[in-house]
Amino acid sequence: MATAAIHGSEQEIAEHAHLFPVFATSSFTFDSAQQGMNRFSGREKGFTYSRFGNPTTKAAAKLIADLETFGLQDGSGNPLQAAALLTASGQSAMAVMLMANISAGDSIVASASLYGGTHEFLADLLPRFGVQCRFVDMNDPDKLESILKEDASVKLLHLETPANPGMECLDIEAVTFVAKRYNKLVTIDNTFATPYLQQPFRYGVDYIFHSTTKFLNGHGSAIGGIVIGTNTEWMNSRVYQTYKLLGCNSNPFDAFLLMQGIKTLATRMDRHCSNAEQVASFLAAHPAVGKVNYNGLPAHQGYKISQKQMRRPGAVLSFELKDGFDRSVTFINKLQVCVRAVSLGTTDTLVSHPASMSHAGMSKEQRAAAGISDGLIRMSVGLEDITDLLNDLEQALL
Ligand SMILES: Cc1ncc(COP(=O)(O)O)c(C=O)c1O
Repeated sequence: MATAAIHGSEQEIAEHAHLFPVFATSSFTFDSAQQGMNRFSGREKGFTYSRFGNPTTKAAAKLIADLETFGLQDGSGNPLQAAALLTASGQSAMAVMLMANISAGDSIVASASLYGGTHEFLADLLPRFGVQCRFVDMNDPDKLESILKEDASVKLLHLETPANPGMECLDIEAVTFVAKRYNKLVTIDNTFATPYLQQPFRYGVDYIFHSTTKFLNGHGSAIGGIVIGTNTEWMNSRVYQTYKLLGCNSNPFDAFLLMQGIKTLATRMDRHCSNAEQVASFLAAHPAVGKVNYNGLPAHQGYKISQKQMRRPGAVLSFELKDGFDRSVTFINKLQVCVRAVSLGTTDTLVSHPASMSHAGMSKEQRAAAGISDGLIRMSVGLEDITDLLNDLEQALL
């Protein structure tokens, strides 16, 4: 996969460009009126307008789809096919994916721990359009089964694993097994893992979405997202129509940055994970630290599941200090190497406060149900020298 990530964006390009170029253009010319008509009607392949499609965004989307399907086969033993659309953000990828597949009167079952924006979209925005969502512990297959048995309005199950910010993990294979018995769609947010650490299509999920803003871009240089689906016919019709009409497209420059970031995905993820494993062990052993949420620690809920379905546990963790909220604020202010910023998956270690930042759109009760206390600190462990990171944490914990 490391090789595919590096060479996957290379294509036959005019002028023999080594890197895939930035096609910075809103429109594409037609040799004749007839050609324009043919392209719009789909009789002839070719670009027309960059909201509908652009060579650079298309190349980046294909690269990520190729990584998500890397080495996987369909039911007939052929290489698994998937279609993908690159979007303006992770949020727009999620919106396109869901809005293309649900209608008023349908309902969604989602895992209890989710990125705050996903939770708000499901809990506050979709009900205005007649779609209800319930949040359940998907690691309880009996409960899940009884919901699917009783409630015919459920159209799809949405998962996030590992989840932001507690790193709770869901057994993708077990959830998909139950969902498929009831003919439900399964969608998953694979942002924290990336295809290098986890390939959900292996277990038969229908859609994967990413905030490419994070580990896929890897450098914090662009906001972006992608939706990838294995029902290529539906992707190229309903999902594509939803994407075009909502205007969720990405842009060529951000797509170019994304492709450069992906070239180092495997190397970065290995280093991210090594650093995170050491940071988690350091925090877990520190007397000032109360609880550490990291699925690479044997005591964490997601440890066994991660070992089953992930190459390594990832590089995001969260923790609480024994002295609560005020102590957390002092700790964050004392950091000198780690950067005080939201987002995650960048070369730099980022530290944030979920209750007031990434999950501020949820009520205090909703946060409590998702295990997000007021004192919780989230850390996206970067690529710095581990000694510098541990020294920084040590001085800030004093
Ligand atoms: C797990 C997860 N999914 C989705 C998103 C939304 O992505 P974006 O900010 O690119 O819209 C985020 C953002 O933090 C996230 O952490």
